[in-house]
Amino acid sequence: MTDMFRQIKDIKNAENQGKEVTVRGWIYRTRGSNKMLFLVMRDSTGIIQCVGSRDDIGEENFQIARALNIESSVVVSGRVNVDERAPEGFEIHLTDVRVISPAERFPITKDQSEEFLRDNRHLWIRSRRMNAILKIRSTVTGAIHDFFRSRGYHEFTPPILTPNAAEGGSTLFEVKYYDRVIYMTQTWQLYAEAAIFSLERIYDVSPTFRAERSKTSRHLSEFWMAEMEAAWMDYREAIEVAIDEVKYIIRRVLDTNREELEILEAGPERLEPIIEKDWPIITYTEALKILREKSGMDVEWGKDLRTIEEETLMEHFRTPVTVIQYPKEAMAFYKPIDEGADAPGPVAKCFDMIAPEGYGEIIGGSERDVDIGSLTEALQKEGEKVENYDWYLDLRRYGSVVHSGYGLGVERLIAWICRLDNIKDAIPFPRTLTRTTP
Ligand code: 4AD
Ligand code: MG
Repeated sequence: MTDMFRQIKDIKNAENQGKEVTVRGWIYRTRGSNKMLFLVMRDSTGIIQCVGSRDDIGEENFQIARALNIESSVVVSGRVNVDERAPEGFEIHLTDVRVISPAERFPITKDQSEEFLRDNRHLWIRSRRMNAILKIRSTVTGAIHDFFRSRGYHEFTPPILTPNAAEGGSTLFEVKYYDRVIYMTQTWQLYAEAAIFSLERIYDVSPTFRAERSKTSRHLSEFWMAEMEAAWMDYREAIEVAIDEVKYIIRRVLDTNREELEILEAGPERLEPIIEKDWPIITYTEALKILREKSGMDVEWGKDLRTIEEETLMEHFRTPVTVIQYPKEAMAFYKPIDEGADAPGPVAKCFDMIAPEGYGEIIGGSERDVDIGSLTEALQKEGEKVENYDWYLDLRRYGSVVHSGYGLGVERLIAWICRLDNIKDAIPFPRTLTRTTP
């Protein structure tokens, strides 16, 4: 039965000239005169124009088809015509139009606000734009699995409900859990650190939750993080893996989604040169120097880089930049001091990868502190109850090894690749401070 139907992308081939095809899909656009009917059809693979006269499809069908609203589901049959005047060079000369379900008047018309489109995301998800983004998203997550598996990493799935904070208590979502409270995961990290003693090299792509109080174009409350953790690996080596991973993902998108990049006006020519170049690695202290000398921006040593500083720094680079050795004070408890670093104060064995074009931090990672004394001290400083982390400290008691890991913000990367104005369009149904529907 299915074999009867052709997907639109497969029709667009000069070899199909004159062939009879049947396509099922939705009406994307219509226009018509008294004599001729023009239907632009869409399916998951693309759009194609269909034309027919009264004589071609019969008076009754002609009238019915002409009155259809966009998004009605239909099955059409006809002959393929290669015609350079048609949008995209192909059209179908109709012999039959069968209505599966007529649509009511579609609420989305031209020139509506971004917020209106997000209120109607359940319908807007059909748009060519969302279709293109979601295809790229599927390529990105598929590439992450392939990248790590091809290097012998095991997929490891962490719990989503957790009693611990890892990235600071202020962004924890509390969940009523029977008669007590538990949190939604902020990172797989503490569990990943346990698992490397069994699997050594692991990765995941998982939902992550942060109660972000700020309304920005790059924060979601629910997002997906692709993380890796590896035993016997220092942070310098983890940086190499991270750069390889992001280049691998972009290459895969370029190989798979050229058409989608065009639809999004995110052209392949933007990304191609980037993956050919070496990506710089600079220290936090050097970053401050660049900000001061090239942008006249003074940042007090010891302060974490904010969005504005990241953006200003990236005005001087066209590829992603990895900033290493941030001040220990500003960092999460598990990042160890880098004793060998040349800096005005204690810095951590850590890194952030920052994307160009104003997309900000896409990766955060570090080596992990293996010293129970300094971990305990850092936890106390963060106001955590050390006894809650006793299981985590066990990992340092039984055959501890140097290990590192990082997390890639999947939507941040997609937003950059697709050149989106807002991270909310990088995920099918965004969750933010103000949005929980649809
Ligand atoms: O830098 P973060 O907080 O790092 C961690 O959570 C580490 N425990 C990861 C690890 O070492 N395994 O988050 C990692 C990345 C950020 O670089 C950013 O790309 C993304 O996650 N991210 C967000 N993306 C969307 N919305 C948010 N609210 C995000 N918060 C972080
Ligand atoms: Mg970070």
